[in-house]
Amino acid sequence: MISERLSRVEESATLRITDLASKLRREGKDVISLSVGEPDFPTPEHIVEAGYKAMANGLTHYTPSKGIPELREAIARKFERENNVSYDPDQIIVTPGAKHAIFEAVFSLIEEGDEVILFEPAWVTYEACVKLSGGRVVWFNLGKGLEIDGIQEVITRKTKMIIVNSPNNPLGAVFDHEFMRTIRDVAVDHDLYVISDEIYEKIIYGGEHISPASMDEMWDRTITVNGFSKAYAMTGWRLGYAASSDEIISAMLKVQQHTVSCAPSFVQYAGVSALESSQKCVEDMVREFRERRDLVVSGLEELGIECMPAEGAFYVFADVGRYGSGMEVSERLLTRAYVAVTPGDAFGKSWGDWVRISYATSKENLRKALKRMREVLN
Ligand SMILES: Cc1ncc(COP(=O)(O)O)c(C=O)c1O
Repeated sequence: MISERLSRVEESATLRITDLASKLRREGKDVISLSVGEPDFPTPEHIVEAGYKAMANGLTHYTPSKGIPELREAIARKFERENNVSYDPDQIIVTPGAKHAIFEAVFSLIEEGDEVILFEPAWVTYEACVKLSGGRVVWFNLGKGLEIDGIQEVITRKTKMIIVNSPNNPLGAVFDHEFMRTIRDVAVDHDLYVISDEIYEKIIYGGEHISPASMDEMWDRTITVNGFSKAYAMTGWRLGYAASSDEIISAMLKVQQHTVSCAPSFVQYAGVSALESSQKCVEDMVREFRERRDLVVSGLEELGIECMPAEGAFYVFADVGRYGSGMEVSERLLTRAYVAVTPGDAFGKSWGDWVRISYATSKENLRKALKRMREVLN
């Protein structure tokens, strides 16, 4: 009954853990969730106010499918100012969330049988988007050293795209110049497209954020995706965007026109306020995230658990192998300590000994969770 194309896609593993945690919570257990993928902060007041004002002023109807010009202009200025990339506002599409932008980009470029390289571990949605578009995922395992030297070996005549995400979910790593240069060289040599998912761009504590589109010969083969969910704590507003060549954005626009029409109107006005107002709210959130990151990393060190360098996003990717597989440890932590973390193999089969710990929760919760983890694991 269900289409072959959809049957290839698995249910989101991260959501499954969240559901189990919710069930325990409904049973009255004090579950601390370290599996969430969204900031716990409220959306900054001035952004809420801008959304409210737009609604009160009657800006509650369809907008141009590509997005309101004011927002696309603000995004173009942001690219120029922060990413050293020039896009005409017409080369930008505003979408209901970065997730839909990624889907539109993959769906627009990938044909049945095309291969897309994903770095393992990877955020779960990339694989689903490729499969829904009829493509085939080719995994390239980054390994503990986050090495991509061997990437040439997985390229075939069918390779069409690489998806890169820095700062990275689930690794918390920020890919450096050398990493990005290798991606550039491979993309140029083999005439590949690159989707650069930059949603965690502003949540960064070490290293430097690099937009592949700013590199030589990359502009028209890159689709830069970003959004408001993480930087401005706006997950529920559903607002993201993508920028690329006229041809690619026109193709994505067709998908958007026939699926969601446009991003919500008043949300787009709130987006203008987010980009054009003071960025102090972002700085405050990032400062708090950094303190939490330090707390989690040192707590895990005490347990003898090694982590990937956590330089961005709000995740620590941790090797729990000494206590069991990532799945066993996740289950033990959830059922005995009421602490929800995400098993690493949700993000790639080679990462079965790892778990992803999100610190998008208060320091008080993190301290409590670490204490319970010590009790259960030792
Ligand atoms: C790497 C990555 N990209 C994109 C998204 C989706 O963002 P949005 O809420 O804008 O759809 C997420 C959300 O978890 C993410 O982790």
